[in-house]
Amino acid sequence: MTNKYKYFVANWKMYGDKKSVNSLNKVIKISKISKFKRAKIIYCPPYTILGDFIKKLKNTNIKVGAQNCHFIDGEGPYTGFVSSKMIKQIGSQYVIVGHSEQRESGDTDIKINKKILSSLNNNLNVIFCVGENLKQKKKNLTKKILSYQIKKGLNKVKNYNKILIAYEPIWSIGTGRILSERELFKNIESIKLILKNVKKHIQFKILYGGSVNDKNIKFLSKIKNIDGFLIGGASQKPNKFIDIIKKSYI
Ligand code: 13P
Repeated sequence: MTNKYKYFVANWKMYGDKKSVNSLNKVIKISKISKFKRAKIIYCPPYTILGDFIKKLKNTNIKVGAQNCHFIDGEGPYTGFVSSKMIKQIGSQYVIVGHSEQRESGDTDIKINKKILSSLNNNLNVIFCVGENLKQKKKNLTKKILSYQIKKGLNKVKNYNKILIAYEPIWSIGTGRILSERELFKNIESIKLILKNVKKHIQFKILYGGSVNDKNIKFLSKIKNIDGFLIGGASQKPNKFIDIIKKSYI
């Protein structure tokens, strides 16, 4: 795993304020150490401090992304929303789309597909989240759900090179519970197979998200088909986030 590029996406959700930029100093320092040159660190703070993060991380190799975008490309009478065009204009390079917390508040697979198309149109890299809930897992529907979400989400997509898939089992988010090594490996392989049927020649990067922390990262890092992590809670504490990065490269 040591020579592989690995993604560490910090999803700050609805946390953080202007002062939070100070917590980036330690992570910036780590990102400059040659051992961690292959760590692709991406911060996704709330919209309100996106500009502050972009400014702070300018001239570093740490990138910035938004946590969501509207499905309409450009501008329009959509109170409270932000478009992918605006996200790109402010200087973000990434956007998270299809997170379960957004699906919960009304994101359908069709809307997610439109968000992906509009983000690609604006030259953003897309972190496309998929994952089953507990009920679906218990009914052995995981593969079917993943296949449905991926096929619908990637409908009409042409530029696959700008897409990262984040497998986030909903039941694992914020609960401290993660999958067994065997199950996680198997589900990632299922995702690879589904993607292969969608687009044969692209080597997609697949991230795992759901209760990733400094304690379970060693275990997770041993799973060979994972290209990185989408981290919620633990990414907001610089020491924990740094520990996650460090322990991934042991
Ligand atoms: P936690 O790491 O807090 O479980 O959150 C995962 C997540 O939703 C990242 O997008």
